[in-house]
Amino acid sequence: MSKPVVFVTRRLPDAVEERLKRDYEPRLNAGDQLPGPDEVVAGCKGADALIPCPTDKITADVINRLDDSLKVIATFSVGHEHIDIKAARERGIMVTNTPDVLTDATADIAMLLLLGAARRAYEGERMVRESTWGAWAPTAMRGVHVTGNRLGILGMGRIGQAMARRAAGFEMEVHYHNRSKLPADLEFGAMFHADLDSMLGVSDMLSIHCPSTPDTLKIINAQRLAKLPDGAIVVNTARGNVVDDDALIAALKSGKLFAAGLDVFDGEPNIHPGYRELTNAFLLPHLGSATMATRDAMGFRAVDNLDAFFAGQEPSDRVA
Ligand code: DGY
Repeated sequence: MSKPVVFVTRRLPDAVEERLKRDYEPRLNAGDQLPGPDEVVAGCKGADALIPCPTDKITADVINRLDDSLKVIATFSVGHEHIDIKAARERGIMVTNTPDVLTDATADIAMLLLLGAARRAYEGERMVRESTWGAWAPTAMRGVHVTGNRLGILGMGRIGQAMARRAAGFEMEVHYHNRSKLPADLEFGAMFHADLDSMLGVSDMLSIHCPSTPDTLKIINAQRLAKLPDGAIVVNTARGNVVDDDALIAALKSGKLFAAGLDVFDGEPNIHPGYRELTNAFLLPHLGSATMATRDAMGFRAVDNLDAFFAGQEPSDRVA
């Protein structure tokens, strides 16, 4: 029997590509060039499945131009805002994602950003490299204490919960805002705020973990930043477009915020140029899930979903 044909938009970890070669007829991207919409459509000609990444915009236009042979899109990501889910549903194309496996890696990066922003890691690292490090001084390079401070978590899904667990290790007082209150065993001691503004008022440190949806677009804007205590810190490992960049940059410049730690950016990798000028912005290039084990696990999870689909079973991570 012939194996299902899978178009893969980006180079995947070796072990994942090996498994695809064993069980499927994969069309791989050895050079890892970013395909445009026309290349995705062309690559899917006669294919049964597509494995895209968050860098591929699988718009309604792309979906409507896909061959009728294409039955399933198994994205190599937990986020799926780069795929027009409604258009996929309308064409009867199933969509799956890769939850769970990147939870800890992403929460680790959120904690790294929180510590780095609070303790001025970027400025300090630059001083060491650029030989501008003067003598140790009682008043030099003072940051903000993380241990015991108040943390607000926006979006208490898997990654938000993992952040709450890490914050407990730092003896933080944790608050969260979510669409609904979680059962006590998933709160990890965090206090629920039905109202976002109420949580912001007690968030000396804010960590953003909500998905990007029409409702969360620029949810952290100038009005919301103004609700934070003076000298607060904002961390974002979710999606760049949940933050209003101009407002965040203005708050970092004015001193309203002490610092920010950002792993995701609207329009990345073409970030708002204002961030580059700020010494109080600790910036990473979307490293949330970037560990070897996690990237393997994400690929295996995407392939598990394809395996279930082609075996006529319900994939565990169906989003459409
Ligand atoms: C995802 O899977 O959505 C992440 O952003 C990738 O790190």
